[in-house]
Amino acid sequence: MKLEGKVAIITGAGSGVGHASSLLFSQEGAKVVAADLNAETAQKTAAEITAAGGEAISVQADVSSGPAVKNLVDKAIEKFGKVDIIFNCAGLPQKPYLTWELEDDEFEKVMAVNVKSNWLLLKYAGLELKKNHGNIIMVGSTGAIKPRATQALYAAAKGAIFTFVKGAAAELAPEGRANVIHPGPIRTPMLPKFSPDQPQTEEETNAVFAQIAAGTMLGELIEPEDIAKSAVFLASDDAAKITGFSLLVDAGTIIARPRN
Ligand SMILES: NC(=O)c1ccc[n+]([C@@H]2O[C@H](COP(=O)([O-])OP(=O)(O)OC[C@H]3O[C@@H](n4cnc5c(N)ncnc54)[C@H](O)[C@@H]3O)[C@@H](O)[C@H]2O)c1
Repeated sequence: MKLEGKVAIITGAGSGVGHASSLLFSQEGAKVVAADLNAETAQKTAAEITAAGGEAISVQADVSSGPAVKNLVDKAIEKFGKVDIIFNCAGLPQKPYLTWELEDDEFEKVMAVNVKSNWLLLKYAGLELKKNHGNIIMVGSTGAIKPRATQALYAAAKGAIFTFVKGAAAELAPEGRANVIHPGPIRTPMLPKFSPDQPQTEEETNAVFAQIAAGTMLGELIEPEDIAKSAVFLASDDAAKITGFSLLVDAGTIIARPRN
C-alpha cells in the first residue's frame, strides 16, 4: 500500500474525482477526511469507505471560506492527530458564457473556489504539512494551457494554480511538496457544464461526451479513477523528489491532435 499510515484531506469528495480519489486513497492505506460543500455526498463517500473497512470522516466545508477551511483542518487533526496529504479536488466551472455576458460577481465566485481554496489550505495546513513531510496536490485543467471561449475566467483561475503551485512548493520546501494535476476531459457531472450547448438529456450528454472523446489523442474520456491513480503517485513516496510539478493527465489532448 502506497499511503499506509497517512492522513489525507480530500476536498470535493462527494463527486467525480474527489469521490474516486477518496476510495482509492483509502484502499492505499490512508485515513480519509472527505470534505465537500454538500454535506450529504461527503457523508456518503465516508460511509462507503468505512463499509469497505477503511477509516474516514466527512466534513461539510466551503473551501472558499477561511473559517471553513480552518475548521476542516482542525477536525482532521482532532480525529486522526495529523494531516499528511491534501488533495484539493473541489472546483467550479464558470457559467458557459462570453465574458461580456457574465455578472461581475462571477469573477469572485470562480476565483474563490478554484484559486483561493488552494491558498487557504496552504495557509491553514502548510505548517502541518511541513511538520509531517507531507504534500498538497492541486487540480488545474488543460484549460489553463489552452482556454476555450465561454470558459476564459475558469481558464484564468486554473492558470493561476499553474504558477501558485510553484510558489507553494518553494514555501513548503525542504520538508514538504506541492504539485498540480492538469486533467483533460473527465467523465464527471462537471464535464457537460463546460459545453456552451448545455446538454439536458442523457442522450444529449452522451453525444457531447463522444464528441469530446474524439478530440483527444487517445480517443477516450479520462475516468475519475485515472486522476485518482496519478494523485496517489504524487502523494506517495514514489514521488518523493517531485515538487512544483504540473502533470498533464489529458489523454493527449494538449500535446497533439489525433489523426481524424
Ligand atoms: N470534469 C472535467 O472534465 C474536468 C477537467 C479539468 C479539470 N477539472 C477539475 O477537476 C476537479 C474535480 O472536478 P470533477 O470533474 O470531479 O467535478 P464534480 O462536479 O464531479 O465534483 C466537484 C465537487 O466539488 C464540490 N464543490 C464545489 N464547490 C465547492 C466548495 N466551494 N467547497 C467545497 N466543495 C465544493 C462539489 O459539491 C462537487 O462534489 C475540479 O477542480 C475541476 O475544475 C475537471
